[in-house]
Amino acid sequence: MDDLKQIAAEIRACTLCPLHVGRKNAVPGEGPANAEIMLIGEGPGFHEDQQGRPFVGPSGQFLNELLALAGYRREEVFIANVVKCRPPGNRDPLPEEIEACSRYLDRQIAVINPKVIITLGRYSMAKFFPNAKISAIHGKARRVNGRIVIAMYHPAAALHQPALREAIEEDFRRLREIIRAAEQQAEETQKPERQAPSEQLSLF
Ligand code: URA
Repeated sequence: MDDLKQIAAEIRACTLCPLHVGRKNAVPGEGPANAEIMLIGEGPGFHEDQQGRPFVGPSGQFLNELLALAGYRREEVFIANVVKCRPPGNRDPLPEEIEACSRYLDRQIAVINPKVIITLGRYSMAKFFPNAKISAIHGKARRVNGRIVIAMYHPAAALHQPALREAIEEDFRRLREIIRAAEQQAEETQKPERQAPSEQLSLF
């Protein structure tokens, strides 16, 4: 049986891409295995590499504030990244690094089976919405493989740009409402009377 501890142990020993060479600590992610909400960032920065924990630097401080705005405690959500080792100088992760690490992220998602995935920034958004522009879809819920996925701006980008900061704060303030509306919409579309006749027939 796959479990989060096993996945984390494999991540800490991983040498699948060159990012392992420069790491002090890999950052598998943290949070409860039964979290309803999973947040996916980009990759560890300096502080995360030092501590082996996700979002513990300045953008982590801001993320904690954003979660509080949404009415969630950090301890009740699972926080992960698309790449688990720090890219040198905090450069963007390369496609081959994201690809190598996706086996771990996919297993984490499968084990946690969250009701909602929140992507933080372009790289985690691209996993679910490859051609989307974050300026167009941030704060909107879509269903991907039966799961609610909401793209948000990355806290680090929003920290330094007042307009983005306002937008991400507003998105998190509305988070529970966004989730509720998405759940309601999913229930509506699953009601037999709302299904097209051909779909109703296919049930028998
Ligand atoms: N930025 C990220 O995307 N992830 C972290 O863990 C920290 C900063």
